[in-house]
Amino acid sequence: MSTASGARVDVAESSGSGSALATPASPCPEAAAQSTTVQSATVLPRTLVLVGLMGAGKSSIGRRLAQRLGVDFVDADSEIETAAGRTIPEIFEELGEATFRDGERRVIRRLLDDRTPHVLATGGGAFMADDTRAVIRDKGLSLWLKADLDTLYERVARRSNRPLLKTADPKETLRGLMATRYPVYAEADIVVETRRVPIEATVEKVYQALVAHLNQ
Ligand code: S3P
Repeated sequence: MSTASGARVDVAESSGSGSALATPASPCPEAAAQSTTVQSATVLPRTLVLVGLMGAGKSSIGRRLAQRLGVDFVDADSEIETAAGRTIPEIFEELGEATFRDGERRVIRRLLDDRTPHVLATGGGAFMADDTRAVIRDKGLSLWLKADLDTLYERVARRSNRPLLKTADPKETLRGLMATRYPVYAEADIVVETRRVPIEATVEKVYQALVAHLNQ
């Protein structure tokens, strides 16, 4: 099986070790026969980059998905916070959005360059930057968690840690962001629609979409 980028991918039998990345194996009739009857493990050939609007569930789904895939989970926003020694609201307030965007761009490039394939949750604005999108296309596999306005709003309304939503009408702000960003998010390699269902169901849906994409 091969991806559009030509990388080899195998859905191999699980070793049960939950270890990170196995080298993709050659197709083997025995393993193929077994794969219908045993739980199989997917080998992630590249970092899976989760994109989508605030509240889409990139971190919560990403963390569980990484566990299922037996790879690391990394949250780009947390990496930026660590590098800056400040929270995201503090970075916006004290250093400005442009500095945040610059850090975001550099962190994502570094993670894609330096780390073995993992699941990477990105902030909602990351995929909007042309050069970040290009590096993700080049080195990663992008997956858009697409959610409707009510689902997003319900989730973001629970917290007040998002500088872009400190507006008079955050729901309207989200609606505007959907209008400008969804056409760009649609460039992702894989698109999964998420709804207000238990998170395990969404993780399963994302996992199946990933496997289907890798087997194309
Ligand atoms: C942003 C989304 C946030 C965070 C920052 C800006 C955006 O991340 O990066 O507040 O531009 O949409 P989440 O999408 O994880 O909330």
